[in-house]
Amino acid sequence: MPLSVIVLAAGQGTRMKSELPKVLHPISGLPMLHYVLDAAKNLSDDVTVVLFHQHERIREAIAHDFPDVHIALQDHANYPGTGGAVMNLSFRHDKVLVLNGDMPLVTAEALEPLVREEADIVMSVFDLADPSGYGRVVVEEGEVVAIVEEKDCTPKQKRIKTVNAGVYCFKKEVLERYLPLLSDDNAQKEYYLTDIVSMARREGRHILPVWVEEESFKGVNSRFDLAHAEELMQRRIREKWMRAGVTMHLPETIFIDSRAAFVGECEIDSGVSVLGESLITRSHLKTHTVVEEADIKDSTIGPMARIRPGSVIEASQIGNFVEVKKSRLKGVKAGHLSYLGDAEIDEGTNIGAGTITCNYDGKGKYKTIIGKRVFIGSDTQLVAPVKVEDETIIAAGTTVTKDVPKGALAISRTPLKFVSGFFHRFFGGR
Ligand code: UD1
Ligand code: CA
Repeated sequence: MPLSVIVLAAGQGTRMKSELPKVLHPISGLPMLHYVLDAAKNLSDDVTVVLFHQHERIREAIAHDFPDVHIALQDHANYPGTGGAVMNLSFRHDKVLVLNGDMPLVTAEALEPLVREEADIVMSVFDLADPSGYGRVVVEEGEVVAIVEEKDCTPKQKRIKTVNAGVYCFKKEVLERYLPLLSDDNAQKEYYLTDIVSMARREGRHILPVWVEEESFKGVNSRFDLAHAEELMQRRIREKWMRAGVTMHLPETIFIDSRAAFVGECEIDSGVSVLGESLITRSHLKTHTVVEEADIKDSTIGPMARIRPGSVIEASQIGNFVEVKKSRLKGVKAGHLSYLGDAEIDEGTNIGAGTITCNYDGKGKYKTIIGKRVFIGSDTQLVAPVKVEDETIIAAGTTVTKDVPKGALAISRTPLKFVSGFFHRFFGGR
């Protein structure tokens, strides 16, 4: 269905008390505006975002993922308010859906009923026990006659429980007729988009209210709302993956980025975070593990492991307090307390407890390459760049500063000696 979409994102978001523009505050890994644009792009080939406050920063943040979204700048100084935001835009299609940029839980599916209906104005409403903060919807004889902002309400209007959810589908000619007639004669001295409703009604236009479920239309105005929206988003994400075959233990304690994906049967223990564009295939993430932008396949990770960006781990067992960064591990066991950074480690290799790749010399980062069936003893330091060939043994406590040839034992230790009677000489007694 041909539809133009306008996303309002020019407001300052004062109630967030933040340097960061409100619509860029992240929810489950992505700026909240991202979700709104996703929903908009699913419905339309003509999406415009209206910006003003920190427009450069917002433009930059969305350019990569939404290159074909149009950007419009509101003439905020002369025409503040949601009505001002929609003025002087051009629309390709005869129906225009207006969305708020601070509604991260909205989906194309939730918007569908508004778009499907035929009326001069289709508007989203819901009933709230506590309607405070929202515009009240005045209904007379089953028809919407006006939307009154809370600050302009009479005491009687304040008691109305039906509120404006803030999403509308207009006929283009309705917008074109009434936008120029808006005034800022109200408590906030702003041009209210909502005033179009009463003007259109007076001229006998058909205004259709559509009751929507509150969750998808929740607006984020404060950091409290932000946390609540993220909780709801997490529930959706977890449910999606559980339905796809992922077992979750105490799901409420698990955080999953909206860009992360799971393939096949996976198991996730309590307290796990899966961040960024991670891909987890047939693996078990044990309790309190953190995975960030990593690709993990047929492996068990943790408890309490940290897998950082650029890691590719296959058929491996990573144990507690092991940190892996930008490394490729295939068929590897690293059970305890290690740092493996900028490394490539091949099949059948065992990494002893306390092994450290010394990948950084204060200036550059260097690689450690470890071959097949290598036994790295505990407390080994591998000073990169360094290569350990197949079928070698590194003795516990060794500092590896040269490439280790195939089949060799590498050992660097000062010989152990005994000084007899030293304890009592030092501490006295006997
Ligand atoms: C608005 C509605 C209210 C509705 C509520 C639902 C109006 C006048 N009021 O109120 O009836 O119940 O949404 O959430 O429309 N914006 C601009 N330019 C501006 C001002 C705002 O682009 O000059 C954008 C904001 O960035 C935001 C959206 O419009 O995304 C809504 O603005 P906001 O100030 O949050 O409106 P509410 O007071 O919540
Ligand atoms: Ca709002």
